Amino acid sequence: MTVPAARRTRRRMASIATGVLVGALLVSGVGGASAADPAQGLKDTTPFKAGVAIDQRETSGDAARVVTEHFDQVTAENHMKPDAWYDGQRTLRIHPQAAAIMDFADTHDLDVYGHTLVWHQQTPAWFFQTATGQPLSTSDADRAVLRERMRTHIFGVARLLSERDGLFGAGNPLTAFDVVNEVISDGAEPDGLRRSEWYRILGEEFIDLAFRYADEAFNETYAAPGADRPVTLFINDYSTEWDAKRARYLALVDRLLARGVPVDGVGHQFHVSMSVNVSALARAIDAFADRPVTQAVTELDVPTGNPVTTAALDAQGAYYRAAFEVFHARKDHLYSVSVWGLNDSRSWRAADGAPLLFFDDLTAKPALQGALAAAPAPAVSVAVSSRCVAGRVVLVVTSTNLAESPASIAVQSPFGQRHATDLAGGRSVAHAFSPRFSSIPGGVVAVTTADGEHASTPYPAAACS
Ligand code: XIL
Repeated sequence: MTVPAARRTRRRMASIATGVLVGALLVSGVGGASAADPAQGLKDTTPFKAGVAIDQRETSGDAARVVTEHFDQVTAENHMKPDAWYDGQRTLRIHPQAAAIMDFADTHDLDVYGHTLVWHQQTPAWFFQTATGQPLSTSDADRAVLRERMRTHIFGVARLLSERDGLFGAGNPLTAFDVVNEVISDGAEPDGLRRSEWYRILGEEFIDLAFRYADEAFNETYAAPGADRPVTLFINDYSTEWDAKRARYLALVDRLLARGVPVDGVGHQFHVSMSVNVSALARAIDAFADRPVTQAVTELDVPTGNPVTTAALDAQGAYYRAAFEVFHARKDHLYSVSVWGLNDSRSWRAADGAPLLFFDDLTAKPALQGALAAAPAPAVSVAVSSRCVAGRVVLVVTSTNLAESPASIAVQSPFGQRHATDLAGGRSVAHAFSPRFSSIPGGVVAVTTADGEHASTPYPAAACS
């Protein structure tokens, strides 16, 4: 599936344009070389979106700074789950923490990965009860009640989010949703499905219905006119790194696809430990690679065990590196890779030992360095300098093909686009852009190869006296 990559590029181009506008106020002397490289964020090293689960605490202060530096997608750790949408009177409203996350994403141009529409946990008990508080039966009438509740919930969520933040596909930062979560059984049930209240009352049909309602709500009713299915619909589960559970997951996904159910993506939670060989993570992703779905690592965390020693932290760094190498090698299949929390004490698995990428003072752990180091050497680079020619600024953009084989490249600057075809391995090409101004604001130039390798660099404002 190529859709996610295209979305990512569009957002990146949008942020380049924003950079130009902001820079307009900063015109100064002629800049020689490119601006100093900002510290590399995880998101700048990954060909898939880099995500993190957050709540309101991470939307301000130092935590917010670290989130925006390293991640380009956020998941609400708890506040978009079914029970978060209802107040004590069972009235649907957006949870203030979910609202804070949407505002944060809007402000910082982050995507939001919704979690989750239909689950057996963190769901109001009344979903599965009659008006008098009795459990719904499996009668046709009670089944119709639960179907309608599911539909009302999903449409209500889509309506609230779109009223607040825009139609999907037209500025709303929400681009994906876990439609159903953890529907696969841990034991060997004949159909491989968890015996939840959803399952007891509706059977396997509840999964089909959840996707059909979500597709109608997010990708039709509350989608921008002309937007092409702007919200990617995921199924999500844990222990997909274990063969037996994965076989049940794959069988369900195949049944859904065969029935034409609009499932776009398969999520792997990957709440693992260091004793799980990363080859098991590779097998989980590879199992779905030839199915017509994208995939996501949705909730990655890897505790060190106790006590948390420096040796364990180093071993964890090696684990994160190996895991991210697995993900990089499967980039064409991955919509995003998300960690389940920012810093260790915020993790739901904190007691198992320091599972995440950042220490509690928000400094980088060996785990983050490992994830960063997994990025393959870039296959293309770009540098920019400015000079004055007859009183006008000229930008000279030099692109280098670092790969061994020839590449065709596109060079994008605020003053236009240029192409070079069949640039031999190791060779550079320079393009001059003359904006015909005596001064220009700072901005960003980017180079992209035909097979999607990407590099960009900022340059400072420049003026000719
Ligand atoms: C967890 C949260 O991290 C906790 O704060 C909360 O108390 C329980 O839920 N699988 C999921 C997530 O899909 O929603 C869970 O998140 C972790 C397991």
